[in-house]
Amino acid sequence: MAKAKTAFVCNDCGADFPKWQGQCGECQAWNTLSEIRLSAPAAKTATARAAGRSGYAGAVAAVQRLEDVAVVDLPRLASGFDELDRVLGGGFVPGSSILIGGHPGAGKSTLLLQALCQLAAEHPALYVTGEESPEQIALRANRLGLPTNQLQLMAETDVDAILASAESLKPKILVVDSIQVVHSETLTSAPGSVSQVRDCAAQLTRYAKQTGTILILVGHVTKDGSLAGPKVLEHMIDCSILLEGDHDSRYRTLRGQKNRFGAVNELGIFAMTDAGMREVTNPSAIFLDRSEHTAPGTTVVVVWEGTRPLLVEIQALVDDSSLGNPRRVTVGFEQNRLAMLLAVLHRHGGIQVGDQDVFANVVGGVRVMETSADLALLLAVVSSLRNRPLPRDWVVFGEVGLSGEIRPVASGQERLAEAAKHGFKQAIVPKGNAPKKAIKGLTVIPVVRLSEALEASQ
Ligand code: TYD
Ligand code: MG
Repeated sequence: MAKAKTAFVCNDCGADFPKWQGQCGECQAWNTLSEIRLSAPAAKTATARAAGRSGYAGAVAAVQRLEDVAVVDLPRLASGFDELDRVLGGGFVPGSSILIGGHPGAGKSTLLLQALCQLAAEHPALYVTGEESPEQIALRANRLGLPTNQLQLMAETDVDAILASAESLKPKILVVDSIQVVHSETLTSAPGSVSQVRDCAAQLTRYAKQTGTILILVGHVTKDGSLAGPKVLEHMIDCSILLEGDHDSRYRTLRGQKNRFGAVNELGIFAMTDAGMREVTNPSAIFLDRSEHTAPGTTVVVVWEGTRPLLVEIQALVDDSSLGNPRRVTVGFEQNRLAMLLAVLHRHGGIQVGDQDVFANVVGGVRVMETSADLALLLAVVSSLRNRPLPRDWVVFGEVGLSGEIRPVASGQERLAEAAKHGFKQAIVPKGNAPKKAIKGLTVIPVVRLSEALEASQ
C-alpha cells in the first residue's frame, strides 16, 4: 500500500509546506508547523499535477453572465448601536459573516450581549457561548437590565451541535463566542489549532451563506493585534472589526479592518461603564475634556475618522536627555513618524532637539494614524521646548512634508466646521485647506511652510 501523503501546515497563517521546517516561510513564526494527512483526492491531484497531467475530476459547475445574476437588495439589520452600524457600513447584511476581534476584556461579549438582547425582540437570535456559562451570562444581562425574554442561549463548543441547533431554531442572527474554542469531532487536532478554527469557521460561514443568517464570530487577538492563531479566518469572513481600548481607559474604539459591504476606515466609539457598553455620540467633547488652564506642550488637532471629524488633544514633553541616544517615545502615534518630523523641524524650522528626550501622547487612548496630526505634533513639541503654551482656543492640522512644506489634508472644510462648533477661535491650517467662505467665529491662518506655522504660533 502506498504511504499516506502528508503536508506540514503553519498553525498561525495556514501556509503549507512539503517538508517540516523550524520557521514558517510565510509568516516567519517559529515552531508552528504541524503535520496533516492529505485526503486521497488532494494527494492524487498533487501527484497528477506533478506528472504534468490535469488531475481535475470534478463536474463542470454552472456559469452565468454577471448581468443575469439576480440582484436582491436585502435590507440591513440595525444592531441598535449606531456606532456599530456605522462601522459595519449601515447595519448587518443578511447572510454575512462578521468577525469581532479584541483583547480579552475589551468588551466583545458585553457589546454583543447588549445588541442581541435588543435585537431578539424582533428577530430570532441565538447566542452560543463557549467560554462563559449560561449562568454568568444571565447574571450579566440581569445586572445590565437587558430584556432577557427572547434571546436563545446555548453553551456549546461542538460545531456540529451548533449547526444542528441553528438548523432547528433558524435564528436570523447567530453569535459564536468565541471561534477559538469551537471544535469539530471529525478533526483530531486540538481546539484552537489552525485546522480546527479554519474548518469550524468554514462550516459556520457556509451555513450563514446558505441560509441567509447573520453570523458573528468572536475572536481573540494577540498583543500585536492580529487574530490569535489562524490568519486564514480573515479571508473567509465578510467583515472584520476590531474592538480596541486600554484596560485603564474606559473608552473602546471599534474599527473596521475589512468590509465587503462598506468602507473600512470608520471608527465607532464606546465607553465601558458599570452599565455595560455605552455609545459615545459626541466623541470630540470627551476627548477634549480639558482643564481650564493652558499648559505648554499641548495642541488640539482635528483628525478625520471614517466619515466624521474628531477633535483630539496632543501632548508633547521635551526634556534634557541623559542618554547618548535620546528617547523618542510615542503613545498613539507612529514612532518613526515622530523621528521624521523632528528631523524636518531641525532642517526647515531651525529648531534642534537632538539632545532632548521627546515624548508624545494622544490624550484619551485614541490612536492617530493620519498625517493631518503632523503639524499639531510639531507645534506641541516646540511649545514644550520653549515652555510657552498655545492659546486654549487654537486648533491645528496639516501634513508636514520632508521639504518643510505644509500639505493640505482631506475634508478641510468639515474639520474647520467641527472646530468652530466646539468653540475654537483660531486655526492654523494648510493653505490648500483655507475655506473659500469665512467660518463664523473662526480665524483661519493658512500656512504654506513650516516656518510660517512656527511664526504664527509664537
Ligand atoms: P467582556 O465583554 O467579558 O470582554 P471580552 O468578551 O472582550 O473578553 O468584558 C469584560 C470587561 O468589561 C471586564 O474587565 C469588566 C468590564 N465590564 C464593565 O466594566 N462593566 C460592565 O457592565 C461589564 C459587563 C463589564
Ligand atoms: Mg468574552
